[in-house]
Amino acid sequence: MSLSNQTRHWQALDAAHHVHPFSDTAALNKEGVRVITRADGVYLWDSEGKKIIDGMSGLWCVQVGYGNPELAEAGYEALKTLPYYNHFFKTSNPYTIELAAKLATLLPAGHRHVLFANSGSEANDSALKLIRYYWNLKGRPEKKIHLSRDYAYHGVTMAAASLSGLTPMHPQWDLPLPGFEKVPTPYWYGAKDAGYGNIDADAFGLLIAGKLEEKIRELGADHVASFSAEPIQGAGGLIFPPATYWHEVQRICARYDVLLHVDEVITGFGRTGEWFGSHTYRIAPDIMAMAKGLSSGYQPISAISLGERMADTLLNANEELVHGYTYSGHPVACAVALKNLEVIEKQKLVPRVKTEIGPYLQRRLRETFADHPIVGEVRGVGLLTAIELVRDRKERRFFPDPGNIGTLCRNYCFNDGLICRAIRDTMVLAPPLIVSEAEVEEIVTKLKSAVDKTAKELKKA
Ligand SMILES: Cc1ncc(COP(=O)(O)O)c(C=O)c1O
Repeated sequence: MSLSNQTRHWQALDAAHHVHPFSDTAALNKEGVRVITRADGVYLWDSEGKKIIDGMSGLWCVQVGYGNPELAEAGYEALKTLPYYNHFFKTSNPYTIELAAKLATLLPAGHRHVLFANSGSEANDSALKLIRYYWNLKGRPEKKIHLSRDYAYHGVTMAAASLSGLTPMHPQWDLPLPGFEKVPTPYWYGAKDAGYGNIDADAFGLLIAGKLEEKIRELGADHVASFSAEPIQGAGGLIFPPATYWHEVQRICARYDVLLHVDEVITGFGRTGEWFGSHTYRIAPDIMAMAKGLSSGYQPISAISLGERMADTLLNANEELVHGYTYSGHPVACAVALKNLEVIEKQKLVPRVKTEIGPYLQRRLRETFADHPIVGEVRGVGLLTAIELVRDRKERRFFPDPGNIGTLCRNYCFNDGLICRAIRDTMVLAPPLIVSEAEVEEIVTKLKSAVDKTAKELKKA
């Protein structure tokens, strides 16, 4: 079969039988999916033989890049040795035990216990259950409300979607569930547009943290169980908190006895130049969720870690923890995750992101877009970067109908063989941690060309 015929065959089968997540099925079927057939390093190839550079590490997860043979071999060994067993009936296995112990050496201070799950959504869902259980054990069952932020993304289960603050995620499913409340996000670049005027970033960080305090007081601290947040908001548009924000948030949580649930699903495993975003922003979580980079996406696995306070209570309850998945701590996933952590350490990827390739990408983007007429801001930490496309860079004014211009620019990127994500009109990059300087140059050149084409198109309009 020729390449094109093969592609059309797969597209037809996909349209006939496969329901895509986060997609408009009818529109997609008309257009036809792109079929990705293989990947290596930072590159993907589609069924037409087109080579694409992946500026997004898949869905922010492929830390060690594609095609790492050590991870593949670790998975194969585990498949041959112990393809499956569970942890329900007083059993464990060496892969799960060693992964839990290894994580305990990398996690924020006091986090020595982990519970495994299979996705970021499940990890956050489980975290909320553990928070509720904690307050029940403490004799404070009235502490039930879960606070989180506008633009937050915590996943898609009923609870994780309720926690999420991206409003289009709710109406189809009659969410959020009762007991979920939102507070504003420290999105400093959008502050002027949101009516806060020309406020300085540090003052804005304190002001927005203060909104959390106001909300807790309004609801009554006796009713608030937890505050959930990503150290850096990812899918909400790469929102980096001002330097003052996290310190103040932690002061507030401590003052009102509100548990701090930190979602490290994107920010974990070297993405920010530290093992966790909690290290970067000096956050001491009571409970933490992690996924994605834990296995570099090679296997579905996630984990929830417990800080001392929660561990002391939950692990001394003297009763069964009525929770767990068939695949919690799956031996093959744990073997691959363990090898992934070993590769990240061996290749010194975390310090590399902090001192070499992260600053290189940030600098090249800042140089390239310093005076671009439709780029309002370049922002980033480690290998997480965003460029904000705006109508008026001086006045920090966004385009009307957010998303149109970003999508246009993203499509130019795709056509030119670069995967870059558009969130509203923010262009987002999160390449694999192994990306080379030459590959960064390729990403920056392609993105510049796409932004130029977008600006040209706008002039025509
Ligand atoms: C911060 C954050 N939390 C949770 C999730 C959900 O993870 P999953 O898609 O593995 O359920 C994501 C996914 O992108 C995420 O970015």
